[in-house]
Amino acid sequence: MAKCQCRWRRVLLCLCCAPCVLVGSLCVYISLVISYGITITGPAANIPQTLPKHFIAQGLTINGSLAPHPSSSFWDANYHRGALWNRLQVSIDRFYNPILMPKSRRDRYDHLHTSNDDNKKKQFSHPTAGFSEIGNLASIMDDFPELSLQMQMFVRSLHVRDYPVLIQPANLCGSGPRKGQGPFLLLAIKSQDLNFENRQVIRQTWGQAGRVAGETGEGRVVQRVFLLGKKDTELDVDVSELLQLESRHYGDILQWDFQDTFFNLTLKDVLLWDWLSAHCPQTQFIFKGDDDVLVRTAALLDYLQQQILQSGGPGSEGMKGFMVGDVIGAAIPNRVNSTKYFVPETFYKGLYPPYGGGGGVVYSGVLAMRLKRVSRRVHLYPIDDVYVGMCLHRLGVHPIHHPAFLTFDFPKKEMEKPCAYYTVLLVHKRSPAQVKKLWSEMRRNHSECQNTSLRKDTTGE
Ligand SMILES: *[C@@H]1O[C@H](CO)[C@@H](O)[C@H](O)[C@H]1NC(C)=O
Ligand SMILES: *[C@@H]1O[C@H](CO)[C@@H](O)[C@H](O)[C@H]1NC(C)=O
Ligand SMILES: *[C@@H]1O[C@H](CO)[C@@H](O)[C@H](O)[C@H]1NC(C)=O
Ligand SMILES: *[C@@H]1O[C@H](CO)[C@@H](O)[C@H](O)[C@H]1NC(C)=O
Ligand SMILES: *[C@@H]1O[C@H](CO)[C@@H](O)[C@H](O)[C@H]1NC(C)=O
Repeated sequence: MAKCQCRWRRVLLCLCCAPCVLVGSLCVYISLVISYGITITGPAANIPQTLPKHFIAQGLTINGSLAPHPSSSFWDANYHRGALWNRLQVSIDRFYNPILMPKSRRDRYDHLHTSNDDNKKKQFSHPTAGFSEIGNLASIMDDFPELSLQMQMFVRSLHVRDYPVLIQPANLCGSGPRKGQGPFLLLAIKSQDLNFENRQVIRQTWGQAGRVAGETGEGRVVQRVFLLGKKDTELDVDVSELLQLESRHYGDILQWDFQDTFFNLTLKDVLLWDWLSAHCPQTQFIFKGDDDVLVRTAALLDYLQQQILQSGGPGSEGMKGFMVGDVIGAAIPNRVNSTKYFVPETFYKGLYPPYGGGGGVVYSGVLAMRLKRVSRRVHLYPIDDVYVGMCLHRLGVHPIHHPAFLTFDFPKKEMEKPCAYYTVLLVHKRSPAQVKKLWSEMRRNHSECQNTSLRKDTTGE
């Protein structure tokens, strides 16, 4: 009996002492770390006088384009004061910050907002709803009246992103038992209602739907959809009947009920993600680009199949964050007020995150679904490719830069080389007539050019 008690006492003693021992070692460890830290960082003279122009953030694989030094501290609360978009975004970022806002509270919000009780909804207003409640725009942006008209229009409808579908393809992603299966590659092409010719040429050349053979690899199912808004019928001819006809004939028109302006292009991304999640969630890859580009679809199919193999399969981690294009690493907002990209400082301050040039990018369907979710936490931004970059940034995804995506055309001299077009996956800008001509030339040159390899980085040449 006594022996037994003794053993229990030892166990008890052990249990009591273990935390003390752990805390003790932790203290010793911390003091060691601190003293080492001081001795290591102490001789500040060792820091080179001129810092390198670029730095690579750890944890991300960045190829080619490196981020620059931040021009200001990330933690300066006053840094973005005065810029409307930044201020609105800060409130959303705080709302979704797991430390500042416990998950239980967010869940309660989400629950309330999926219920139909309007009174309950009012008790808990959401930061994204906040903008419409601010009301007097002039008071938040002193120079609102001086903004360009398109910026004023953008700011007014910044909080709206649920526009109804006017025309949509019926069977893009299979029907019946094959419903929702989706193609290997979906070509989602930004177009405008009057660009009939662009669409027609794309259908006949690089945008053919169905089973498409690779240059060397296997054939894959490709589908095509044109993304359209609506033109102002007061100013333009009304072509809605023609579009209906076009849609019935080709089944590749996806049109929403919003004004098709430059600053509204971001809506095409956001609404495409919504549409895909409802109709084509199994799509493996999405090409999203302009209707004035030339794409080497067959070579792109080969490249994508290679990427799947290298990343370890369609469901791999690599594919969850896969986006490739002409990545612009460290752009700053355009402050020239006469250009169409002009964004005033009163609207946005800071650098742009890395983003794939809007002429054309390719990303995985899995990433599209993640972008759809995270985009609910990012205020719309008037430049569409930058907006996608902002969403990627919040997912911790870095797009892959590939020099074969030429969204700014060939460098001088390179175009004259024989087989130049065989070195690219995409080239921007080409008129419908040029696309047609290049396409037939490329078929003619195929046998002599087929072994040309894709462009590599030529920076420094
Ligand atoms: C990108 O960088 C990673 C890590 O540095 C490297 O393994 C990979 O080969 C690079 N990819 C390209 C396309 O250069
Ligand atoms: C975008 O479309 C909406 C809906 O048609 C419109 O109210 C808004 O003014 C448009 N925004 C821009 C910047 O054109
Ligand atoms: C554009 O900027 C210039 C100087 O930067 C200024 O003089 C001009 O008034 C501005 N124009 C508009 C329309 O704001
Ligand atoms: C096809 O080959 C001809 C003759 O070499 C060349 O002039 C032309 O630019 C090539 N076109 C394309 C699209 O490769
Ligand atoms: C291209 O490569 C294939 C196989 O590697 C070879 O048989 C063919 O002769 C090459 N063609 C040219 C024009 O170099």
